[in-house]
Formats: sequence, C-alpha cells, structure tokens
Amino acid sequence: MNIKKTWPASKFGSRLRGGKQDEHSKPRWYAYQAPYPEPKAEKPNLYYARLLMDDMAGAVSELTALAQYLYHHQVLYERYPDVAELLECTSIVEMTHMELLAETIMHLGGQPKLGVRTNCGMEWWRGDQVYYGYDICDMLSADIEAERQAIINYKRHIEMIDDKYVKALLERILLDEQHHLEAFKAKRQKYCYPHR
Ligand SMILES: [Fe+2]
Ligand SMILES: [Fe+2]
Repeated sequence: MNIKKTWPASKFGSRLRGGKQDEHSKPRWYAYQAPYPEPKAEKPNLYYARLLMDDMAGAVSELTALAQYLYHHQVLYERYPDVAELLECTSIVEMTHMELLAETIMHLGGQPKLGVRTNCGMEWWRGDQVYYGYDICDMLSADIEAERQAIINYKRHIEMIDDKYVKALLERILLDEQHHLEAFKAKRQKYCYPHR
C-alpha cells in the first residue's frame, strides 16, 4: 500500500502541531506542551483500525468535537471572545488528532473514512451528532461532556490495543483531552458559576 507521508513535513504540520506563532496572529494552539509520536503501527491490524475509526469519526469523536467547538466558537464570538478563542484553538487541535489517527489507520491497513464500520456496513458521520446548544453554559457543559467521553474512550482503547506505537499516540492524545477538559471547566466556572 502506498501510504502518504505527511509526518513531519506536512504543509500545515508545524502550525497545527505546535509550531511557533507569528506575533501578530491569534494563538492557534491549545494543547498539552509535548511533541506527538510519529503515527505508525507495529503491523497491519484491521480490528485496531476499526477502533481508531470510532475515535476519529464516530458519534463521539475528533470529527464531532472539531465541528462542535468550531460552531460554538462562531456563535459565542461576539459576547465571549475568550471562550470563542479557546474553542477555535481547541478545534484545531482536534483536527490534528484526526490527522494523526487517519495516518495511523492507514498504517494499520484501514481506510480512514468519515464514519464507522458496523456489521451492516458503513455508518456515516452526521451533522446531528453535534450539540448545537442555546447559551454559553449548556454549550460548555456539552463540550465538557465531549472531553469526558473522549477520555473514557481513549483509556478503553489503550487497554484494548496491543501495539506500542498506537498506544503511545493514544496516550499522547489523552493528555490533550485532559488539558481541554480542565480549560473548559475553568470557563464554565467563570461564566456559569462565578460565585461558587
Ligand atoms: Fe481530540
Ligand atoms: Fe479535546
């Protein structure tokens, strides 16, 4: 199989993966400060590829998170610019996770499509898997829940996968999700429970 090599020299790689910021640009990065392992696998394994497809583009996934945070960024930007900026930067990190998972799925012999494989065929990702919300507090609660669920899923998959390279990648992504969870909780505390 011809695996497209985008590590470490992809066009957007240095920016998406934590490269230096132009001093006049907005901060584009909100992640745990540590490098990512190179996406690879000990050997092809379609079962592991299927697990990573769930993480990449299932109902609770990187794709759902990046779309949801980007939407929340757009609707909160006028009134809550600090929250909107956090959400935009976090969305870009989720996109990076998606890219890293997609590359790993290819190394495992799978095809990283925007959906999950079920016993009945492909179940495609849908826009109604995003929580659109009504105000800042229910949006942040949904974003916190998305991170909590992602942490649970990654911990489960780290237990299930016996491949040192894939495990290392998921363990690194997990650090970002824990970082995001704390950042979202701090914003909810600031705007939703300021007197507690
Ligand atoms: Fe993520
Ligand atoms: Fe996250």
